[in-house]
Amino acid sequence: MSESKAKQEKQQLKRRQFLAIAWGASLAGLGGGLLASLFKFIQPVTAGGFGGIVRAGRVDEFPPGSVSHIKAGRFYLHRLEDGSFLALWQRCTHLGCSVPWVEGENQFHCPCHGSLFDLKGEVQGGPAPRPLDVFPVTITNGEVFVDTGRSMQRSRFEPDQTTQV
Ligand code: FES
Repeated sequence: MSESKAKQEKQQLKRRQFLAIAWGASLAGLGGGLLASLFKFIQPVTAGGFGGIVRAGRVDEFPPGSVSHIKAGRFYLHRLEDGSFLALWQRCTHLGCSVPWVEGENQFHCPCHGSLFDLKGEVQGGPAPRPLDVFPVTITNGEVFVDTGRSMQRSRFEPDQTTQV
């Protein structure tokens, strides 16, 4: 075999190796992308933040009568005495300030202009024009999920705004 023929075959071999490596890398990238998409598809129910479905916790973590601030979802989860759940958006219905729950007052007290809301989010005083907005709650396998992408305005509290266990 001539020296130039051997050199040519060596170059062809290198080209084939390069193509094989490039092909393998493309497949690995495609597989990784598919796995990432699948992971994203199965994750939103368990790891969402505000604007999506937020896992608040296990049902038994919320005793009847309690108010829990779920910071990641920007809402308060109130478990009523009858065991049902109500998710209240922390945003004041006056001008949008974040409204803290004040344990000592047993109410939500907006620091901006003094609006007051009771445990069910109904206005007790101040300039707020309507109760705190609510988010839909679902219970799945003993876990509480809140859809923070679907806020609902209301003029007063109604029992059908709550979710039974
Ligand atoms: S923003 Fe809450 S009372 Fe004005």
